[in-house]
Amino acid sequence: MENKIVYLNGEYLPLNEAKVSVLDRGFLFGDGIYEVIPSYSGHLFHFQDHLQRLENSLAGIRLANPHTREQWQDILTPLLDAKIDQYIYLQITRGTAPKRDHAFPDNTPATVFAMCSAIVPFAGLNQGVKAVSMDDTRWKFCNIKAITLLGNILHRQEAIDQGCAEAILIKDGYVIEGAASNVFAVIDGVLCTPPKGNDILPGITRDVILELARKNNIPCSEDKIPFTALQTASEIWVTSSTREIIPVVELDSKTVSDGKPGPVWHAMQQIFQAYKQALIMSEQTFFEFPCQFPVKAMGKSDMKLDLLVIEIVRRHAPDVKADAVTTRPSKDGNFIAITVVIEASSKKQLDAIYQDLTDHPHVLMAL
Ligand code: PDD
Repeated sequence: MENKIVYLNGEYLPLNEAKVSVLDRGFLFGDGIYEVIPSYSGHLFHFQDHLQRLENSLAGIRLANPHTREQWQDILTPLLDAKIDQYIYLQITRGTAPKRDHAFPDNTPATVFAMCSAIVPFAGLNQGVKAVSMDDTRWKFCNIKAITLLGNILHRQEAIDQGCAEAILIKDGYVIEGAASNVFAVIDGVLCTPPKGNDILPGITRDVILELARKNNIPCSEDKIPFTALQTASEIWVTSSTREIIPVVELDSKTVSDGKPGPVWHAMQQIFQAYKQALIMSEQTFFEFPCQFPVKAMGKSDMKLDLLVIEIVRRHAPDVKADAVTTRPSKDGNFIAITVVIEASSKKQLDAIYQDLTDHPHVLMAL
């Protein structure tokens, strides 16, 4: 198990030290919600939209939001690595009650957990994947991003057992969504996707694709798709934050068009990737050097971390004074955060400090 730093209830700690009680309602009842938020080169993608969906999911299960949007940003940012593409998994449960009881507990703080994982480009992206249709057997609140995912898991596994990457769920003769994705189809030259409602998760990738299609004059519609229309569609895609836009080239053992990703997918794939790049560029902040810069590092408190951090920083910023250092212990005293404010002269200097800090085994995290 990769022992990365994760966030749990106000603390940053190594994954193998992050523990929740067996009485946590997420464990006992699946009583919680989650979000999956991509981060490209350290930039959270459509963060406000993900937070809006998080707020809707919390309202849907009658759980108070434990944090403001600014606090969520502050909590999640230290988990990100600007060098790679990642996704944040954020889970909030109704917390640990004194006993197992279906009714909501009183005065029980929510459990908040977040971790970050690398986005590995999906293997079927360029040649397309197989999908299989099946009757949607899930519950009636699929618009809530609930951690109770048994229905979705069983659908996905059924697809995998049949040699497919995704299950396409059908209800009353209409296309709904994938087991963990939204569905698009090109029908008579129009890019179609089912409308939002209680039976689908309002995918952020779905909304971005529709917005980009409209901006790029690709005709599109958000109308119910009869399953019979999907069976003769010229293109089918499944979309999600972690896999992005995946072309389906075979549905129920029949090829879709010529069995290759279609022209609308190629166009959208290009538009989507260019859009991501543009967002990253527009959010980049450029420092003007020289400037005062806070170098932050975290590690176990029994490691004399402050002396170590100062020693590393002084390798690249020799005139750092002892009073430029502040230390803050974690709630339980096991970890310590060190901040050293330096007069930074260049990005190269900051990169070198960052590199030496992250290379040291006693530094768990450097920002
Ligand atoms: N799932 N529909 C379902 C049922 C999903 O689980 C997902 C994504 C989507 C697409 O939503 P978005 O574009 O916002 O990722 C649609 C995530 C990735 C997961 O559960 O891991």
